[in-house]
Amino acid sequence: MSSYASELRQTAQAMMAPGKGILAMDESNGTCNKRFDKLGIPTTEDRRRAYRQLILTTSNLSEAISGAILYDETIRQSTDSGVPLTQVMKDGGIIIGIKVDTGAKDLAGHEGEKVTEGLDGLRDRIAEYYQMGARFAKWRSVITIKDGLPSRACIEANAHGLARYAALCQEGGLVPIVEPEVLINGDHTLERCYEVTDETLHTVFEQLYRQGVAFDQMILKPSMVISGLDCPTQSTVEQVADATVACLLKNVPAMVPGVAFLSGGQSEARASEHLNMMNQKYGDKCPWRLTFSYARAIQQPALNHWRGDDSKVAAAQKLLLHRARCNGAASQGQYNP
Ligand code: 13P
Repeated sequence: MSSYASELRQTAQAMMAPGKGILAMDESNGTCNKRFDKLGIPTTEDRRRAYRQLILTTSNLSEAISGAILYDETIRQSTDSGVPLTQVMKDGGIIIGIKVDTGAKDLAGHEGEKVTEGLDGLRDRIAEYYQMGARFAKWRSVITIKDGLPSRACIEANAHGLARYAALCQEGGLVPIVEPEVLINGDHTLERCYEVTDETLHTVFEQLYRQGVAFDQMILKPSMVISGLDCPTQSTVEQVADATVACLLKNVPAMVPGVAFLSGGQSEARASEHLNMMNQKYGDKCPWRLTFSYARAIQQPALNHWRGDDSKVAAAQKLLLHRARCNGAASQGQYNP
C-alpha cells in the first residue's frame, strides 16, 4: 500500500466534493496554439500565460471547481505581478493537478491508432510535481473507432500504460486521473460506442488490478457513450445517460470515489445536459460521484470572447464561471440552462 494512502483518499474525496468538478486546462502547447490560431491569438508563451492567468484568477471559481489540471509550462508560470499560478490556486481553494503523459503517438504496426507515451522518468517527474504542490495527475489515452478498429493491441497497450502511470502516481502521492478516451469522431452508432467503451473499461480495470492500483485512491475520466459526430442517427440526451451509466455500472468498481467525464467535442450545452440527466436519473443508484473534468465545454465561450485582448478579461471570466456553475449544478442533477 502506498505510504500516501490516507492522503490520496482524502485528496480524491476533495476532488469529488458535492456540486464540484474538475477544470481541465492542461492543453499542451501544440493544442493550445491550435485553439489560439483559430481565433487569431498570438501563439506565444506570454499569451498562453495570460490566458491561464485569466482562468485561475476568476473569482469564486472554487464554488464549482475542486481542482484544475495544468500543463508543465503552466505549473511554472506566474501572474503579471509575479505570483506563482500555483499560489493563486492554493489561495483560491483549487487543488493543483498536472498532466504527466507526453502525448499520444502512432502505435507501431497499427495504422490509424495511437499509444500514449510518458512512462520514462515519470517517477522523478511525479516527485518534482508533488514538491511544487500538485496533488493529482492526469494521463490520457485515445481509442479510435473505425471499420475494424480499435484493435486489441491498441486497447491493451493503452490500458497497460494507464495502469503503470496510476501505480507510479500513487507511490508518489498524486491521485491518478485515469483517462481512456473513446473518440467521438466518426460515423459509428451509440451501440458501437458502447461495445468499444465496455471493452476498453474492462481492460483498463483489469490492468489497474494487475498493477496493484488502489481503486479508492483514483478517479476515472471516461468519455460518454454517444453516437459519433458523423453518425446519421444522433443519440438523444436520455440515450447517452442510459448507455453511459449502464456501461460504467458494468465495469467500474464501487470503491472508485468518482467518475469525472471529459467533454470530448460535445457542445457546451450538451455536455451539461448529459451530466445532468445521468445525475437526475441515476445519481442515487451509482456508488461513485458522477461529475465533470471538462476543458472545451467550460473554456470555449471564455476563450472566444477574450481572443487575446486583455480588456476583455472580466467578461471572459464571467462566461467561464457561468459554464463552471452550470456543470456544478449538473453534477447534482440541478442544471437549469
Ligand atoms: P475536453 O473536455 O475538451 O474533451 O478535454 C478534457 C480533457 O482533459 C482531454 O484530455
